[in-house]
Amino acid sequence: MRIVVLGPPGAGKGTQAERLADDCGVPLISTGDILRDEAASGSGIGERIERRMAEGRLVPADLVTDLVRQRIDRPEARSRGFVLDGYPRTMDEARALDDALSDRDTALDLVLLLEAEREVLIDRLSGRIRCTRCGAVYHERLNPPPGGRCSRCGNTEFEKRDDDRPEAVERRLDEYRRQTEPVVDHYREAGLLRRVDASGDIEHVWNRTRRQVDARS
Ligand code: AP5
Repeated sequence: MRIVVLGPPGAGKGTQAERLADDCGVPLISTGDILRDEAASGSGIGERIERRMAEGRLVPADLVTDLVRQRIDRPEARSRGFVLDGYPRTMDEARALDDALSDRDTALDLVLLLEAEREVLIDRLSGRIRCTRCGAVYHERLNPPPGGRCSRCGNTEFEKRDDDRPEAVERRLDEYRRQTEPVVDHYREAGLLRRVDASGDIEHVWNRTRRQVDARS
């Protein structure tokens, strides 16, 4: 399966995409995570990426597209497919992905759009924390680490993301409206889009997500 997960910041893309990739037995390609790793590497390009992300601005499309192409060319992604979280999010990126897949004689099977009200998004982003060791994502109130320990690696320290500050969140929501909503239309017109009500707890959203994937398979 080749699946794209779209949606505004805080809709739960990362949370659902990780589970979906696991469930389908395909690699997860999360551009947010790939870019955060690049930023943490301390390279010159990493510093530029880090600044843009902290401000809530998109990273240049050609740079992100190169990173995505490398991932979809890995043998596991070539043979089994992938779940793409957070890409494409501009029309340039969407066209680049269409071209990359068609050059490889393949295509997307499904695009999932996670949708939730603005208050829900803000609430989720303002309480998000992640493990300082492995990066696993939790929420202070809605999805706390069980017993204060990361269930993936056992660490007890958590941090907030720089771009979850209110002013960066506003800019990210604005970028989504301006740059990503046209991408949603592009996939709707292509007949690939399936909408998922992303309000409610993680389990409910997962059931709705799974149903949309089952309906397509
Ligand atoms: P990225 O990391 O992809 O950020 P985003 O798209 O803004 O999405 P988020 O990660 O904030 O939210 P999410 O929808 O994944 O929600 P999550 O599951 O974490 O990108 C960051 C930056 O990288 C961009 O701003 C840009 O600069 C750059 N970038 C990335 N891709 C790019 C691209 N293609 N082109 C250019 N630049 C790019 O959940 C949020 C919180 O809610 C968590 O605390 C979680 O535990 C909780 N939660 C989730 N679901 C539920 C639920 N159902 N109920 C209760 N709590 C929930």
